[in-house]
Amino acid sequence: MTADVETVVRPDSASSQTPARVPDHVAIIMDGNGRWAARRGLPRVEGHRRGVEAVRRAVRSAIELGVRYLTIYSFSAENWRRPPAEVADLMGLLKLFMLRDLAELHANDVRVRIIGARDGLSPDIAGLLEEAERRTCRNTGLTLVVAFNYGGRQEILRAVRRLAEAVAEGRLRPDAIGLDAITGALDTAGIPDPDLVIRTSGEQRLSNFLTWQTAYAEYVIAPEFWPDFDHESFLAALDEYNRRDRRFGGLSDKAG
Ligand code: IPE
Ligand code: IPE
Ligand code: MG
Repeated sequence: MTADVETVVRPDSASSQTPARVPDHVAIIMDGNGRWAARRGLPRVEGHRRGVEAVRRAVRSAIELGVRYLTIYSFSAENWRRPPAEVADLMGLLKLFMLRDLAELHANDVRVRIIGARDGLSPDIAGLLEEAERRTCRNTGLTLVVAFNYGGRQEILRAVRRLAEAVAEGRLRPDAIGLDAITGALDTAGIPDPDLVIRTSGEQRLSNFLTWQTAYAEYVIAPEFWPDFDHESFLAALDEYNRRDRRFGGLSDKAG
């Protein structure tokens, strides 16, 4: 029998840098790009550019540490409220990332999944997202989940509509709708719930991120702005995670 990934003491744990328990799924709210830039008297877009470099680092860290799923919050359903020029910068950076990084992600056996609403996106962006998912769908290494045009409440709404349609068409009985049916109707179908949510820049809120899926996630607030988040920061977050006692409403393993 194979041990649960979470409880495996990794073979290279001789290094003091390697945490004892590596979460299966780490989800990151990448926050603070604008403040990083403002501190330096730079335009906000420069913070977003440096944020893309931090994404590349986080992917490398996740692979190195043996994280199975890494979700990154790239653009929220509410981020459309920003000035049009900033929205255009963010769209442009996503396009560049997909164009420049997809080959390397693929070479590293990374599977890309996109969550969020596809309608409202320009056809070129929608096409790139589809291409990224299609090209990497057979990869078995890290799954990189990109939350783009994503809102947790909107995702639940889409799932409810899907289930309601199935009921209306007679394919589903209302009393057959259980927690699994809802979980399976979300964009994240097939992806385990996050074990650890990291938010950078010191902010302590969820901002409509993975509303359903984070019911029992552990939260770690990292003080650094996202462009400064590096491998050490990742390790520090996992270190804090390792000090948590996850009880899921039951009793601690440590309870006598
Ligand atoms: C995170 O940085 C990137 C996105 C939300 C797209 P912000 O742009 O939110 O940076 P701050 O929070 O204004 O510093
Ligand atoms: C959350 O950050 C969205 C992303 C990281 C993509 P925001 O900066 O948009 O969140 P608020 O507005 O501070 O809650
Ligand atoms: Mg922010």
